[in-house]
Amino acid sequence: MRAIERLAETAERCDRYRAAALSVGFVPTLGALHDGHVSLFRRAKSECDRVAVSIFVNPTQFGPGEDLAAYPRPREADLAACREAGVDLVFLGAAGEMYPAGFQTWVTVDELSRPLCGASRPVHFRGVATVVTQLLSIVRPHRAYFGQKDYQQSLVVRRLALDLHLGAEIRVLPTVREADGLAMSSRNRYLDAGARRVAPRIARALAGARELILGGEEHVEAVVARLRSDLEREGGLRIDYAEVLEAATLRAFEGGLLRRGPGGIVVAVAAHVGGARLIDNVVIAPGPG
Ligand code: PAF
Repeated sequence: MRAIERLAETAERCDRYRAAALSVGFVPTLGALHDGHVSLFRRAKSECDRVAVSIFVNPTQFGPGEDLAAYPRPREADLAACREAGVDLVFLGAAGEMYPAGFQTWVTVDELSRPLCGASRPVHFRGVATVVTQLLSIVRPHRAYFGQKDYQQSLVVRRLALDLHLGAEIRVLPTVREADGLAMSSRNRYLDAGARRVAPRIARALAGARELILGGEEHVEAVVARLRSDLEREGGLRIDYAEVLEAATLRAFEGGLLRRGPGGIVVAVAAHVGGARLIDNVVIAPGPG
């Protein structure tokens, strides 16, 4: 495995893979890797000839007062996890190269960036869309892999790859969970023992909402009310949002009435638990009408 710090050297090595007719799978990350990331590496490995990973704590997707400085950066452990998963190349991006002096070009994905996390983190998706565009332009992978935990991000990335003709197939893989249901996240490291006990309530509340919908509940308001009461019961958790939206567009359901087809339904939650802001979701696949 090669760990490369320079952007040009990364691009050149990926060019060489393609010139040798080797398919390239790419997993962009912020580092602080966990089994969710490893599942993406392994899937990329099973579908592509070479796997490239980026580890870059992208400053532009963190707003003022967010956890950019505190974000964990366990470089050696991250490199060991990549090596263990059979990754071929790790690009260790540096802010100075990604955002050189005079930088002023941004990618924004308008509508999909607005609701959910976009409402409480106004610069977040502009930062994500810009860095993902940069990374896809450097690596030029055949396929790029993302986790469903960041559902809104996966829609934003799909859209920009399509709109900007970046040529990468965007693959979104299921959320990997702890035994008690908590979605794996680098930010779970912020949870102390008490918060760690509270955090799985998010996954349980989402499962409850899913059951309610599959059981025939048609009113968004009823699902949201149940979701909020399951989340808030027993305290220790502050809701940022708890919403039920059209899965393909992130639009609200007209008249507040759920319809399963053709885009499906996403139930999404962001909540503060202890020192962490955690997100999770369930997607209910399109159904008949
Ligand atoms: O999901 C993440 O880890 C980040 O948002 C990403 C896609 C690596 C962009 O910095």
